[in-house]
Amino acid sequence: MEQERERDDSFSATGALEREPLHTDATSDEGELDLLLSEDGEARRRFLKQALIAGGGLAAANLLLHYQTNVSAQTRATATNLAATQESPAAIHVTLRVNGRDYPLQLEPQATLLDALRERIGLTGSKKGCDRGQCGACTVLADGRRINSCLALAAAYEGAEITTVEGLAHGEELHPIQAAFIKHDGFQCGYCTPGQMWSAVGLLQEHCPAGMTVRECMSGNICRCGAYNGIVAAVEEVLEENRHARA
Ligand code: FES
Ligand code: FES
Repeated sequence: MEQERERDDSFSATGALEREPLHTDATSDEGELDLLLSEDGEARRRFLKQALIAGGGLAAANLLLHYQTNVSAQTRATATNLAATQESPAAIHVTLRVNGRDYPLQLEPQATLLDALRERIGLTGSKKGCDRGQCGACTVLADGRRINSCLALAAAYEGAEITTVEGLAHGEELHPIQAAFIKHDGFQCGYCTPGQMWSAVGLLQEHCPAGMTVRECMSGNICRCGAYNGIVAAVEEVLEENRHARA
């Protein structure tokens, strides 16, 4: 319980960092802490929703927790990288369309889509796990199909409709997959969660071939926490709802 409270305290501090409009009922950090202690379960569930709307699950929350201490160094590093790329004679102009918005970029020809999303555009919901196509943490949709963005050359996706986890929720309305992940506790640390969710959304559109299980159809997405039971339950529930809706 003590651990749970400590985690929730962290979540609160994290959520408050950039999600002020969602905390309008808390007038101060102290008030927020009281709220968390008195309404433990409800506050956790609300935090999870906020974190998912933010696009990165609990991993994003942990990252945000360290945001204040790391942001200056990261900003300097990004600025240095950008400057280096823009000055590079090899840099090429690429416009990526992500979550319905165009991003004109100067990129090295060998830049991966994942690096362009995270380091150039600043959409850090897609995670870098293995950086070699083995874990699925970097899964995004390109023209409706799920791909490992760490293996995709950014320049090859100019003109494609890229969607990342930041574009999954509509405002504060969660995508059914996000809601199901919360309902079934489909994550622990959350690092794999954006990739798992996009793989699931891709699966809803592609359909799992007859005779294959959800586990098989999402076998490219690894969860080091082993939250597979919750993940599979969440995806199966949404697949079932879709089947009923079509019937
Ligand atoms: S980071 Fe892309 S598959 Fe692991
Ligand atoms: S929830 Fe931690 S890696 Fe999947």
